[in-house]
Amino acid sequence: MNDTTITFDKLTISQEDFIRLVQFVQKNYGINLIQKKHLIESRLASTIKGKGFTSFSQYVSYILNTNNPKDLEVLLNKLTTNHTFFMRENSHFDFFRDTILPHIEKTKMSRKFLSIWSAGCSSGQEPYTLSMILCDYFKNKPGWDTRVLATDISMNVLNKAKEGIYLKEDTKELPQSWQRTYLVSVNEEQCTFVPKIKNNVIFKEFNLMDPIQFKIPFDVIFCRNVMIYFDQPTKDALIQRFYKATNAGGYLLIGHSETLNKENCPYQYLMPATYQKKQTTSTVKKPGIFNSY
Ligand SMILES: C[S@@+](CC[C@H](N)C(=O)[O-])C[C@H]1O[C@@H](n2cnc3c(N)ncnc32)[C@H](O)[C@@H]1O
Repeated sequence: MNDTTITFDKLTISQEDFIRLVQFVQKNYGINLIQKKHLIESRLASTIKGKGFTSFSQYVSYILNTNNPKDLEVLLNKLTTNHTFFMRENSHFDFFRDTILPHIEKTKMSRKFLSIWSAGCSSGQEPYTLSMILCDYFKNKPGWDTRVLATDISMNVLNKAKEGIYLKEDTKELPQSWQRTYLVSVNEEQCTFVPKIKNNVIFKEFNLMDPIQFKIPFDVIFCRNVMIYFDQPTKDALIQRFYKATNAGGYLLIGHSETLNKENCPYQYLMPATYQKKQTTSTVKKPGIFNSY
């Protein structure tokens, strides 16, 4: 018997339904929630009640069989962990500016095109930071086409990212020169980025469990603090897909608390959380138009 019950107006999930939901989320979105029973109960209770279900059991059965994208979107909005902030793991941004960009500039001088992917971008702090670094770096170097693709599976954060409005309080860590040049006030409490910073970032919904079929391979992939929620086989498979989508000589940056499996990692290890694809095997394709991601 299914023992999902309502106790004192609080919905609890049975072990059986919990496992069904955990397996569904892991298989389809990679996220491993096996240690997160309380998180599931607390984050989904209002959704379940709002949809008129009276138990987790009803809801889980519905979710496992529905094709309704709206309901899956709500589920993902609730179950993803989107914590991020400006200048997070800042040493990566220094490495990007001081080492990666000069290297790419040298190797791609004839094409003057570079492509960056912020995979698991949450509410946009990471890709907008990359856009500011690119803008600074290429400001006196005409003819360069630089672009940042920023993707996530949570529409909630993706919409916030597209809007690009942040609390002034939360932008305090950005260098003063950026605050002066690239931020404009929206009201007393909020600010946003100037168009040239915003327009250089394309936001798209993308599930990292799906095949990577963007037409343009990437010079740099930032996938930081995303794979911590994935199990090892899921991570290994994603790394192989990232590798195929990386230009020769391109980079992969992951979160500093994350590690890759040394045995089967195709990238070369450069330093903690920083990897590079060998220069030799060329996969560089000609760029298409900006929206061709
Ligand atoms: C903790 S945030 C990291 C944000 C940013 N990269 C950083 O380091 O601050 C992790 C993001 O990964 C996204 N995510 C989790 N699983 C995903 C998947 N299968 N496909 C795409 N994005 C995913 C979540 O929605 C969340 O916004």
